Parts: sequence; structure tokens; C-alpha cells
Amino acid sequence: MPPIGAVIQLRGGPARGHGVAVLIRREGPEDTAAIREITVAAFARPVEAALVDELRDSEAWIPALSMVAVESGVIGHVLCTRGQVDDAPVLALGPLSVRPDRQRTGVGSALMHAVLGAGDALGEPLAALIGDPRYYGRFGFRLGGEYQITPPVAEWLPHFQVRLLTGYRREVRGTFRFAEPFDRA
Ligand SMILES: CC(C)(COP(=O)(O)OP(=O)(O)OC[C@H]1O[C@@H](n2cnc3c(N)ncnc32)[C@H](O)[C@@H]1OP(=O)(O)O)[C@@H](O)C(=O)NCCC(=O)NCCS
Repeated sequence: MPPIGAVIQLRGGPARGHGVAVLIRREGPEDTAAIREITVAAFARPVEAALVDELRDSEAWIPALSMVAVESGVIGHVLCTRGQVDDAPVLALGPLSVRPDRQRTGVGSALMHAVLGAGDALGEPLAALIGDPRYYGRFGFRLGGEYQITPPVAEWLPHFQVRLLTGYRREVRGTFRFAEPFDRA
């Protein structure tokens, strides 16, 4: 049986033109150590990898929305966990990690499209994150203020972004909150 997931062809990089493909699929128990390793490598510090481990053990974990990019091994990871806008359940996207030697070849984009598509299919209203608008704008993220959604910390305003999904309603507005493990990260 062929593997389950979406096969994508990457642009650029040494693999170009050699038929090398990357598979995007849900993370499984066998991926935990590799996810930890690439997250430490991508961020060049252990904080985000520890956060992913804590989230996995928390009530905020959404198994359908933790995805890996796989070549011969795991080369990228993304996840969405349960966050809130006031009392409304929404998605918190990140951390997003691509192994340094495979960055800028489309792996991060493939993971973003996959996880946003899955969140949309699940009927979620929106995904929120803290990140660089120059990167996330291409995936439909806009500053939260555009939708009257504000971050819990005022200094995050220039980096706090929201991507609307099909389940969005205008009443979903107010202050966004990450799951509790983010408070310790
Ligand atoms: C950010 C990250 C996930 C992007 O993954 P990637 O696989 O390299 O991304 P893609 O190949 O799909 O896209 C690369 C494009 O994004 C741009 N890009 C990457 N990081 C960017 C940033 N911080 N700001 C603006 N643009 C950025 C690149 O310039 C490139 O654009 P180009 O193709 O027009 O040259 C990856 O660089 C990474 O793991 N970084 C370290 C961890 C991190 O910062 N994670 C995100 C915060 S949670």
C-alpha cells in the first residue's frame, strides 16, 4: 500500500530535478524524538522543542493537527493546538520548524498549507500565531487588529496574526490566549 499523505515536489535546492519528494502526514509516536531534534536545530535552542513536548501532554493537543514533513527521515514539523479568543475555541499555530539544511526549499510552505487545510476541514474558525508578517502573509495571515482580535501581551501586536478559516464568525473577537504551556516557554 502506498504511504498515506500528500506527496509534494520541492522547488530549487539540490533535490530539484531528481524526483525527490516530501511526504506530509500526521505525526505518529515514532516521530517524537525526530521532531524534538529538528525543532532544537531549527531554533538553535531547546525552548521550542520542550514546548512541543509539553503541549503533546496537555489538553490543548489536537492529534489531527500535528504534521511532519518526511523525506528519508523527518525534516519538518508544524502543529496547531487549542487556543481561545475570549470564550471561543480557536487554533494556535506553531512552533513551525524545518531542519536547517532543508530550509528555503518549500518544506515550511507545504507544512503551512497542509495544516491550514486540515484546520479548515475540521470546521475551525481561525488560526492565530506570533511571527514575521513577511513570511506568514503569503498564507493569508493578517494582523489580528483587522478582525478585532488582540494578543494577550501588547508588545506582540506587530507580530500577532490571524488566518480566517471557513468556520469563522464575526462574533469571534477579543483577546487571544495560548494554551497554558506557552506561558512557561
Ligand atoms: C521559518 C521556516 C519554518 C520557513 O521554512 P522554509 O521551509 O525555509 O520555508 P519555505 O521554503 O517554504 O519558504 C521560504 C521563503 O520564506 C522566506 N522566509 C523564511 N523565513 C522568513 C522570515 N523569518 N521572514 C520573512 N521571510 C522568511 C524566505 O525568504 C523564502 O522566501 P523566498 O522563497 O521568496 O526566497 C524555517 O526557516 C525555520 O524552521 N526557521 C527557524 C524556526 C522558525 O523561525 N520558525 C518560525 C517561527 S515559529
